Amino acid sequence: MSSNNYNSYSEQLYQSSRDTQDLPVPDDLAQQHSKKLITVIRNEIETNNGAISFQRYMERVLYAPALGYYTAGSEKLGAAGDFVTAPEISPLFSHALANAILPVLEKENIILEVGAGRGRMAADILGFLQQQNKLPKEYWILELSADLRERQKHTIKETIPEFLDKVKWLDRLPEQFSGVVLANELLDAMPVQLFLKNENDINEVNVSWRDDRFVFQLTSSFDQRLVTRVKDIEQELGQELNSGYLSEVNFAAEDWIKSIAEKLTSGIVVLIDYGFPRHEYYHEQRTQGTLMCHYRHRTHPDVFVYPGLQDITAHVDFTAMADAALESGMRVMGYTNQASFLMGAGLMEMATINNDKQLINEFETASQLKKLTLPHEMGELFKVIGFSKNCDISLPAFEFRDLRESL
Ligand SMILES: C[S@@+](CC[C@H](N)C(=O)[O-])C[C@H]1O[C@@H](n2cnc3c(N)ncnc32)[C@H](O)[C@@H]1O
Repeated sequence: MSSNNYNSYSEQLYQSSRDTQDLPVPDDLAQQHSKKLITVIRNEIETNNGAISFQRYMERVLYAPALGYYTAGSEKLGAAGDFVTAPEISPLFSHALANAILPVLEKENIILEVGAGRGRMAADILGFLQQQNKLPKEYWILELSADLRERQKHTIKETIPEFLDKVKWLDRLPEQFSGVVLANELLDAMPVQLFLKNENDINEVNVSWRDDRFVFQLTSSFDQRLVTRVKDIEQELGQELNSGYLSEVNFAAEDWIKSIAEKLTSGIVVLIDYGFPRHEYYHEQRTQGTLMCHYRHRTHPDVFVYPGLQDITAHVDFTAMADAALESGMRVMGYTNQASFLMGAGLMEMATINNDKQLINEFETASQLKKLTLPHEMGELFKVIGFSKNCDISLPAFEFRDLRESL
């Protein structure tokens, strides 16, 4: 890249990172908290010759001990937080998911949930399985955030105290285990690497400090894994990405899938998240990638606003997740959108049963079902992918609409 082009791209990124929205202003305490995290990251930038990778920045703002968005004590999920997830919208989501995995629970008796948020899904899955007389021997939770662990314990204590001794919190993945691994909106919360394509070069987008705030900075990428991946993407798309194309690669999520495959002796993995197959993810019109921030239920693109106080996420390239599973010896047992998976898992029948018992008000149920399944809500953008290892049981929920061909 000529130095003129190089500077103009840098400048564009610099300007786009200043595209601040009309967001609510955090209180003084929250701002002081954010300033502490900013100082930690600035120090790291200084000791790294003026820049750190975007992946490292995202990792710090989300997970720096006691200071990151997930690791510190803000509300995060739910109406008083920044965003709402499917298990928080309706217990029917978790009931349908539990119903979907019943065939595997005939053989496996451990459930491992990774990244369990406030613990709603764990409580509702256990509640449902108890009704079905299919309780697992143990329900394990692997959670990075000490704050969320406490909130999960609170939810379990409040809603299903009789199962408190069934739920175990793990510090890391066990060396060997068999069972059912579940995760909702975990992959989108993992730190991604950012790249910018130009005519001659693949640049890694880094983070620096300028004019009293964080800014993007480009360097020619020497990260062979990233360079090779971008070239592979272009080969699969059958065309080069246009000059100026900015996007992400989530190697952390791929490595996480590989580490699960290494340790899982038999069982299945079911992951729910928002994203696309590769040809849609890296579509030529999606020129600015998929990074998104959530603050007080507002969504915006500025990853440098309120470090540590807002969530930062990226959509998931499900083809990359399937490749990681296949490379590490798992089978892709299913891939479909959330609406089809939940329908195939008996969501509608469950909603009717609940209404008959008058457990849930009819209007409320209808509104929850709409949010979970309508194409313009979560039904189409959210996908469910399933992997299996030494387990040939199939799940009817994946058979309702098999989209594996699109990967
Ligand atoms: C977007 S929240 C989703 C929470 C919950 N699953 C839900 O749907 O409400 C992401 C969760 O993943 C956790 N997390 C992120 N990376 C993780 C990892 N590598 N291991 C375990 N938990 C992780 C976060 O702390 C948080 O609980």
